[in-house]
Amino acid sequence: MALIPQDFVQELLGRVDIVEIVGRSVQLKKAGTNYLGLCPFHSEKTPSFTVSPAKQFYHCFGCGAHGTAIGFLIEHVGLSFPDAVRELASQAGMQIPETQHDPEQAQRREAQRSQRRVLLDAMEQANRLYRDQLRKSTRAIAYLKGRGITGRSAARFGLGWAQPDWQGLATVFPNYDADVLVQAGLVVARDAQGNTIEPSALAGRVVERRWDRLRERVTFPIRNTQGELIGFGGRVLDQGEPKYLNSPETALFHKGEELYGLFEGRGAIQRHGQALVVEGYLDVIALAQYGVDNAVATLGTACTAEHVRKLFRHCGQIVFAFDGDAAGRKAATRALEAALPHVGDARSVKFLFLPPEHDPDSFVRALGADAFAREVGRAQPLSLFLLDTVAAGLALDTAEGRTQAIGRARPLFGLLPDSTLKAQMLAELAQRVRTPVDAMGMTLTPATRGVKTSAAADAEPTAAAPWSSRRDAQNRPRSPLPPRAARLRAPAPRHDLTAVRILFLQPSLWHTLSAAQHELLLRRDGATQALLQWLETRLDDHPELTASALWEALRADDLLEQAQDCAPGELLDMEPDALHKHLIGAIGSIEQAWIRQRQQELTQAGLRDDGAAQEYLSLSARLLELSRSLPRV
Ligand code: UTP
Ligand code: MN
Repeated sequence: MALIPQDFVQELLGRVDIVEIVGRSVQLKKAGTNYLGLCPFHSEKTPSFTVSPAKQFYHCFGCGAHGTAIGFLIEHVGLSFPDAVRELASQAGMQIPETQHDPEQAQRREAQRSQRRVLLDAMEQANRLYRDQLRKSTRAIAYLKGRGITGRSAARFGLGWAQPDWQGLATVFPNYDADVLVQAGLVVARDAQGNTIEPSALAGRVVERRWDRLRERVTFPIRNTQGELIGFGGRVLDQGEPKYLNSPETALFHKGEELYGLFEGRGAIQRHGQALVVEGYLDVIALAQYGVDNAVATLGTACTAEHVRKLFRHCGQIVFAFDGDAAGRKAATRALEAALPHVGDARSVKFLFLPPEHDPDSFVRALGADAFAREVGRAQPLSLFLLDTVAAGLALDTAEGRTQAIGRARPLFGLLPDSTLKAQMLAELAQRVRTPVDAMGMTLTPATRGVKTSAAADAEPTAAAPWSSRRDAQNRPRSPLPPRAARLRAPAPRHDLTAVRILFLQPSLWHTLSAAQHELLLRRDGATQALLQWLETRLDDHPELTASALWEALRADDLLEQAQDCAPGELLDMEPDALHKHLIGAIGSIEQAWIRQRQQELTQAGLRDDGAAQEYLSLSARLLELSRSLPRV
């Protein structure tokens, strides 16, 4: 993505007006210095979607959607990053610079892009053939009709038919031996030993035999959110194994990230503010045919956190629909784990268990769309499903059963970011297992409780006082974020979060801080620390970065998701002076907490030698100084 220079992105964001860009899709009304409208990312009746001309951000107080003009074109309009930049550049009459720092890298990128285009072309070409063949196949048409699929639905989802021939694609690809067919996953290749050659591992291998992957199957084209055709599913007509054959992993297709029907249903999902996740292609199609047009399906895999994240970009609620059998329960548990890291006060998840004899396809056909809608309305909220899962099969009237339940709950709650919802769920669990929240070992972090607790988040190195010296910047680990699990376990304490939010909103304030203040922020453990290190590096290189350009730099470095908590929220309205004061206050509070902890350590060690006593006293003096000088926040 560094293909488009960050400087250019900054200049571009400085030239376009986000109010105008957003204003084309959302009706905005002036409210103070900002503009206000109904959020296009979740459904709401009272506007909580704000656009700030000063900061060039949009921000939704309801669902947390946040971004720049570029972000809006990506998230709302569905453009890719380069397309969004191109679109804005042409509106602003700007030329995207072609110069490259690293011509070799540029060449590699260009080669990748043109390879991608070749693969996509091949997919479209195959798709045209399949669709053509469906029109001519009475057998396939009879099958689809037998399953109640109308011609309109078949057209809407681009269904096709792959003939029984071993090399049927040769009719549209005269060079059947071309690598691209294998790389796109359309053709299966085996070597002389009979081993299948993976699409991505073709280079340098000798292919002995090749044949069409999809033969004698109904084809389901799979598109990404940009509408590019990246894969196929194929179903046998009658019995036969496997029932479905999907594209393998290719440069285009990663089934753990893609959802069937998302391209077709994206608009409806945004309109409803809700996405329905089902298991099968035909569930999506049948539901759409009955007017339930916000359904998507995972592609023969368990639902992943990436799937969930993707869906929450389009709506605030996800309803998982599962069969009512044991397999459905198991799939639901996996979906629960995938969903937990993304759930919060504005992002909810529900679980729908259909009667055992039904899947969504058969249900909606047998009982109709209204009955299905009622089921969706009755879906179990995540909070209840989680508590049920934790308690399943345990005797909660025994101490052993309750202990086991706590043990099961701990990793699940560990995945859940702090929110009011989490606090509620913890209270609920505490009641069920008759144990005080504090004794369960999964207490909330200060961000939610407003009190310092989590040892992980607040532990400080004990060496010198934090303001004494700034470590050599060279030695400090740069950018790499702690592993995901660690980040989730140690959400940022309140003041850290405030500080980081302010800095992302008004990056120039970084330069007003003293070395001691930088140090204090940078050596915090926890969620914000790595982002601050990243910010420091960025601002060292580009001291003039604006807030919106900084935000886009996060995207370029693939950190946008990690930085979600750094969106400014209420701070968006604050004047620069107030922001500055707020920042100083937050850093001061961090220092106070650090001092209190250090003093506690000293007392616990008994203040035995003079040095310790001396340190204790000078800390007290500093504490006093701080409490006098700090602005109230
Ligand atoms: P199901 O077996 O529940 O199929 O698989 P279904 O959608 O109800 O199929 P119909 O109604 O009999 O046509 C659900 C999903 O799991 C994947 C497919 O994505 C399918 O839609 N699957 C299933 C496979 O990938 N391979 C298989 O062999 C079976
Ligand atoms: Mn089915």
